[in-house]
Parts: sequence; C-alpha cells; structure tokens
Amino acid sequence: MSERQLFLGGYVLFPSGHYAGAWRHPYSSRDWLGRDFLHQVARTLEAAKFDLAFIPETVSFRDGFERHGLSNAIKHDPAQVAATIAAVTTHLGVGVTLSTSFNEPYNLARTLLSLDHLSGGRVAWNVIQSNGPANYANFPHVEQLAGAELYDRGDDFVEAVTALWRAWDDDALVQDQETGVFVDTSKVTIPDYQGKYLSVRGPLNLPPSPQTHPVIIQAGDSPRGRQFGARWGDVIFAIERTPADLRAKKDDLKAKARALGRDAEKIRLFAAVQPIVGETTEIAKARRDYLATRITPEAGVEFFSQFARLDLGGVDLDAPYLQVLEERATEGQAEGRAVVQLTELLGNRAGNVTIAEAAVEFSTSELTPQLVGTGVEIAEQLTDIFASGAADGFLITPTHFPGSFDDFGRAVVPHLQRLGVFRTDYTGTTLREHLDIA
Ligand SMILES: Cc1cc2nc3c(=O)[nH]c(=O)nc-3n(C[C@H](O)[C@H](O)[C@H](O)COP(=O)(O)O)c2cc1C
Repeated sequence: MSERQLFLGGYVLFPSGHYAGAWRHPYSSRDWLGRDFLHQVARTLEAAKFDLAFIPETVSFRDGFERHGLSNAIKHDPAQVAATIAAVTTHLGVGVTLSTSFNEPYNLARTLLSLDHLSGGRVAWNVIQSNGPANYANFPHVEQLAGAELYDRGDDFVEAVTALWRAWDDDALVQDQETGVFVDTSKVTIPDYQGKYLSVRGPLNLPPSPQTHPVIIQAGDSPRGRQFGARWGDVIFAIERTPADLRAKKDDLKAKARALGRDAEKIRLFAAVQPIVGETTEIAKARRDYLATRITPEAGVEFFSQFARLDLGGVDLDAPYLQVLEERATEGQAEGRAVVQLTELLGNRAGNVTIAEAAVEFSTSELTPQLVGTGVEIAEQLTDIFASGAADGFLITPTHFPGSFDDFGRAVVPHLQRLGVFRTDYTGTTLREHLDIA
C-alpha cells in the first residue's frame, strides 16, 4: 500500500449538478424533497468509504435555472441536509456550505458546532461569501460588498466563528456531581470579538466537539479568494481543466499558506472530476455522448450565459458560437474563465459550432474534467493525477442521482484500493481523522 492515500468527496448538488441534464437522465431519482433520496446517497457514499458528502448552497431563485431544472433548482437548508445524512451514517463526513454574508457568526457557529457534536465530529464548513445581486435581494438589510472587501468581511466572520468554537478549553465541562460544578467557567473565555465589519460577544453554550470544531473548506479562486483559502482552508476545492492547472493552483495555495506560517502539508486539495463509468470503454464513451442529448438548447444557453455572465437573451440558437461572442461579449466577459475554457475545449471545432451546441457541450460538465472509461481505467486516471502531486483528493460530481455514486463505489473504488491509494475501511471516526489532520 502506498503511504499517501487519496481522499474522496461526493458532490450532492441536485437536481442537476455540473451536468445540466442530470434530472432528465433516465436513471435519476425524482425524489428530491424527501429523506429517502438523501439516505440512499449517504449510505452509498459511506459504503464506498468516502471522506465526505458535500452540500452546496445558494439563497436565490433564478427563473431560468428553475424552469430548466439546473443546479440549485431545488435547495434545502444545507444544515438540515447534513443532519439527515449524519443521522443514517457513522463515519461519512459532511461538508455544509453556509454564507458569511447572510448569517450571523453566532448562529452559524452554533449550527455547525451542534452538528459536529451530534454527528460525532464529522462536519466541515464550506465558507462562501455569496457574490451576486440575486442573493442580496433576499437580504435587503445586508450591505452588498464585492471582490476583496467581501473577503475582508469574510476574514472577520471566520475569525469570529473560530473564536466562538475555541472559547471552551477541552476540560471545561467537568460535571462534578460531588461539588456541584457543571462547567469550570475559569476555563471558558469570553471571545468578545470586535472586527471592522462585525462583532459578537459569545461564548457559545457548547464545548469543543469530538474533532474540536468543524473542518474548514474553501473554494475561492480570485487572487484575494486564494489568499482567503490559504489562511483558513483545511480543504480546498478546485475545478481545473488539466492536472498542470491543478498543480499550479495547489503550489500557489500552499506557498501562500506557508507565507502565513501554516503547515501547508496539512492542506488537502480536492479536484472536481466527473467520472463516466462503463462496462467497456466503448460503453463509457457512448454514455458520455448520451449526456448532451438530455440538455435542450435553451437549457444549455441559460446555463452557459449564467456562468459566462453573458446576456444571451433572444439569441439565435443556430448562430455561430464565435460570432455570438463577438456581438455579445464585452472584453471582460470574453476573457472570463467560462468563455476562455470553453473555447479551449472546443479547439478546432470552435469555428464550426453554433452557440447552442457550444452551450450544451459546456453544460455536460460545467468544464469539470470528464473521466471516461471502465472502472479500472478511471481508477488509473485518478491514481495518475494523485501520484503526480496535482491533487490530494477528488470531488466526484455525478451525472445521475444516486446511481453515479453507486457506479463509482462498485466499479472504481475497488481498483483504487487494489492500487493501494485508497482506504479499504475507515481507521478513525472523525472527519479530521479521515483527512489525517487531527
Ligand atoms: C467545488 C466548488 C464548490 C463550490 N460551491 C459553492 C457553493 O455551494 N455556493 C456558492 O455560492 N459558491 C460555491 N463555489 C464558488 C466559490 O466559493 C468561489 O466563489 C468561486 O470559486 C470563485 O472564486 P472567487 O469568489 O474568489 O472569485 C464553489 C466553488 C467550487 C470550485
């Protein structure tokens, strides 16, 4: 067995995730609202020995997204989803996304520390700042910040939350029935956090959890976002097209973390990938080709326009892709990540495809790399990326729910185990133990 082991997370973003047609896939669930679906996902991920299930968040309704069933068209409260998953598992970690913009530090710190206790120390917080006016419309009293200032406020927020999580010493809860002392209050500090943007007195009425406090996940990508991730992230999520790009991101983040005095070897970079498993390579390729057939041109164009922040309203679906970009995209939009990477992905075909064809291709994985093949082939591809040092783990993004996780667990995981890069069983119980950062 190799000494370094890779980590696995499951992307629980439904009814469509990075694949805009997931809910229309014939193998997909239709039960997005009840607990049975979540229980099934949770048990599948735990049977496959995943480190964590990851629950994303959004707090706005976007008409085009809802109409076409795109990502976030159904959105439960992520903490409730996490509680539902934790209740039927014993080892699987659960990453909960919550925003620094639309929560109070006290409430958020308490929700997550409670979940961490109730799950036996299996919770992570994916820290998001929630950019964009649609979200703010639901929180009219919140001042809308952008760019670096949003992250400055985020720093204050995480400082406040971690101060609340660390207010009790490990041995503050004494419960001495003889003396009548329940909490040794000399071992509880009052954080009294005063930041530039917010303040909170504390403490919480909760001691440290079995893993002290939740693990912190971060996925910022702008220069300021990466700085934030380097400061706070135990786990970093990345979506990059190539292993070389992943490697560059990882090196950048770890250098930033070292400059902040952190032990960069303890930071885990998870790369998002979309595995498409087949009984044979040909079947897997046919499955990959099938995906585009479940996305209408309208849904694809809606999805792409949101990511590219490009107004494609009323566009002629048969107009050439490059011509539409020329007519509709400002300089900033044309240089944006979605447009640049989609054009790169299309390569020589870019001049010959319509905007609808290009947008549908984008919407099969939202530019998340697709790994196509048999279980053995996909396990080998993952192992190569991992062995090259480009990623510490992978975030598995499904094409259908919950079958993609079943396929991965049955057809890929045994080969990762055979190759000696993935656990055959959990050796600890907390998420920090799984990630080897306890
Ligand atoms: C794997 C992954 C998951 C993410 N999940 C969410 C999410 O649930 N909600 C959200 O608002 N943003 C999410 N993001 C967006 C990031 O938090 C971040 O805003 C984005 O990567 C752009 O970086 P920037 O804010 O520094 O520009 C996610 C990003 C990645 C790569």
